[in-house]
Amino acid sequence: MRRITSCELLDEDSVSAADVEAALRDIWRINQRFGGVSGCLRLLDHFLARSGLRRFRALDVGAGDGRLAACLQDELADRGLETTFWALDRRLSHLNCSRSSHDPLNRVAANALELPFPSASFELVMCNLFVHHFSGTSLRYLLAEMVRVASQGVCVNDLERRWLPYLFIRYAPFATRNPIARRDGVASVRQAYTRPELAAVASTCGAASVDVMSLPFFRLGLMLWKEPSPAGSSV
Ligand SMILES: C[S@@+](CC[C@H](N)C(=O)[O-])C[C@H]1O[C@@H](n2cnc3c(N)ncnc32)[C@H](O)[C@@H]1O
Repeated sequence: MRRITSCELLDEDSVSAADVEAALRDIWRINQRFGGVSGCLRLLDHFLARSGLRRFRALDVGAGDGRLAACLQDELADRGLETTFWALDRRLSHLNCSRSSHDPLNRVAANALELPFPSASFELVMCNLFVHHFSGTSLRYLLAEMVRVASQGVCVNDLERRWLPYLFIRYAPFATRNPIARRDGVASVRQAYTRPELAAVASTCGAASVDVMSLPFFRLGLMLWKEPSPAGSSV
């Protein structure tokens, strides 16, 4: 399946606030059911096993409404881990969609390609359903920027470009309910990466070691480490 890039509707200024809210609500439903939460928790298990940390700061880049970051913070708290999650998105309107009076997150509106933090500010930097928005030099730059602000590691959870998820998102009525989320979902799979493509870019972004893995629900997981792997790089 050839990679075809396109602009996703959620990235455009023309979408109304109500449509943004409905689309982000549907993306959250997809994250809950189809590998967003479970895939990130699996990557976090790798992170915790290798870093040995019980307390850390995490930055979610391209966080949308921040529901995923808040959920991960809660899940880790249930396991006795003390974490502080930051949600960063280019659009304040996306970040504000799920903000409550007792907001558990720190929210920052900024461009992921120019993260407004000094190097090594967060033990963990992560993103979900995000890297497929970037191509070529921009993707390499994004990953390098995430590696820069991480002191220990970076977790990436994204779709894998394959026919089965493409057909599922396009034609299964229960996969996505919102028309914007469905159209963006189809475009997302078409511009997502294959495992060898992601591994090739990841090997050039300045990480000391890289792991790429398949995750359930046709997703790919990428771990970028600041220190060399004890057993050598596994790409
Ligand atoms: C598909 S949504 C995913 C949101 C969230 N990660 C999730 O899984 O629910 C992609 C998000 O990336 C944001 N985004 C796109 N380009 C960005 C950039 N250059 N810097 C920061 N955020 C960006 C969009 O505003 C949008 O909220």
